[in-house]
Amino acid sequence: MASTEPTAPAKHDSDTEQDQALAVHFHLPKTTNPSTFDDDIYLTSWTFADAPHIAASIDLTIHTNLLVIPWPYTEDHAREYISMTIAAPGMVAGPPPTDGPADNLTRFMAIRLGSPTSPAVGSIGFEWPRSYLMEIGYWLAESARGRGLMPRIIEHIVLPYAARVKECARVQIACFTFNKASARVAEKAGFEYEGELRNWHMPHGVPTDAAMYSWIPPHARQV
Ligand SMILES: CC(C)(COP(=O)(O)OP(=O)(O)OC[C@H]1O[C@@H](n2cnc3c(N)ncnc32)[C@H](O)[C@@H]1OP(=O)(O)O)[C@@H](O)C(=O)NCCC(=O)NCCS
Repeated sequence: MASTEPTAPAKHDSDTEQDQALAVHFHLPKTTNPSTFDDDIYLTSWTFADAPHIAASIDLTIHTNLLVIPWPYTEDHAREYISMTIAAPGMVAGPPPTDGPADNLTRFMAIRLGSPTSPAVGSIGFEWPRSYLMEIGYWLAESARGRGLMPRIIEHIVLPYAARVKECARVQIACFTFNKASARVAEKAGFEYEGELRNWHMPHGVPTDAAMYSWIPPHARQV
């Protein structure tokens, strides 16, 4: 798969004061193994220049599979989201690890391919419902799906990070039971299926079951 051509995102004049510089938090180089995903992957901060790309990427699948994405989704929604990511507090309750790559992952990351300034093709975020529990949420634009990108990001960036956060005792992915692609992401990234959470959420007032997957960092495994 060819790398996305680097394109400097256009800047919106009214954002100048609020905007932040795009910060590259992680670069996963492409592999030489032709059977695996072959783009350089960058996780970066969001900037307001991403708003049109986010709005163009959010489709009904993303709206249906995630709980918090409005529909129809507009650039104003995207700009609200970006503001929230800029204001969000840091990644973990405890001190971040300092002994390896990706030590500066933050809670809301843009996914870019080929170049750190390419238009974002997706999003990955980390919630900490409890100080020891990391929950991962994610979406990809349709054009980036089906190439093993998300399992690769989780396996090679997120889990090595979590393994170095001493406070972290559990990483989890919860997806609606109808979301087979997300369940495969969890399985391919090395998570274990724990079971079904009945009526876990009520999207549009409809009780909906979820599948729960977890990964336990080596330092927190019970013998
Ligand atoms: C979930 C998502 C991030 C997957 O990322 P991805 O990088 O495309 O994942 P992969 O390329 O590994 O492909 C998904 C896997 O699911 C499988 N899959 C996809 N749709 C499926 C279906 N309807 N039934 C069974 N398996 C399915 C694919 O075959 C693939 O598995 P394989 O590699 O064993 O063949 C992407 O589909 C997406 O953005 N979906 C919309 C948002 C979303 O659902 N987010 C998660 C909320 S919990």
